Amino acid sequence: MRSVCVGPPHPGNGFGGGGLMEIDIFTLFPEWFEWFEAQRHVRNVLEGGSRLRYVNFREHTPLSGGRVDDTPFGGGAGMVLRVDVMDAALRGHYGVDAARVRESRRVIALAPGGPVLDEGYVQELAAEPALTLLCGRYEGFDERIVEHFASETLSIGRYVLSGGEPAAMVVCDAVLRKLPGALGHAESAVEESFSETLDGDPEYPHYTRPAEYRGWSVPEILLSGHHERIRQWRTEQSRLRRT
Ligand SMILES: C[S@@+](CC[C@H](N)C(=O)[O-])C[C@H]1O[C@@H](n2cnc3c(N)ncnc32)[C@H](O)[C@@H]1O
Repeated sequence: MRSVCVGPPHPGNGFGGGGLMEIDIFTLFPEWFEWFEAQRHVRNVLEGGSRLRYVNFREHTPLSGGRVDDTPFGGGAGMVLRVDVMDAALRGHYGVDAARVRESRRVIALAPGGPVLDEGYVQELAAEPALTLLCGRYEGFDERIVEHFASETLSIGRYVLSGGEPAAMVVCDAVLRKLPGALGHAESAVEESFSETLDGDPEYPHYTRPAEYRGWSVPEILLSGHHERIRQWRTEQSRLRRT
């Protein structure tokens, strides 16, 4: 069950109109996203006026030596990201009390144990004018970051990554490709896996030339030219893939 704690949907940042979105990513490794930003569909939405911003919370730490983490109370392996560091980073970037940022935009702490991202969740996020993604590292966040700064936690699946950066990219990719102008063919996103057009089912199989390869042939119906029968076959195939 996903519980979201948000205030007014529009942060007054000029985004949210005409499918524009602003995503701020709090990370210790902003350079990870250089490759991501160079991808065509991401470039398309950025050129269209949407915005990705990166906040390296190490640059905001009030601690000496760029320190951002500490040992866990109660003992145990690994290091935990400190609440005072995230507090300083959110306040430094938004210029308001860090605990109030979530009143104007969804602040999402990436966490393996959070509610898992799916198509419905992506659609919900894509309708927001602005998001903030907090990327954890090491053992993860001091729980007070989640409790007091985040509106929610989000997992991209039931496995553990070394850091929140790949998870943030998954969220950004899935969300940004929903925005107008992201894809070369806007229709691609209308009839795809989990779309309403397919009743939320996975997409049907695709084939292309050659029609015959190593004795593996393409289903005859697809070569028949009967559009209605092809449509029916695809719907049926899609239903068969329902889990
Ligand atoms: C090594 S993980 C921490 C794992 C944590 N100790 C646990 O057992 O749940 C470090 C960071 O990677 C990110 N992360 C790892 N797996 C993730 C997943 N499946 N979905 C979203 N974020 C994930 C989170 O931000 C997390 O704080």
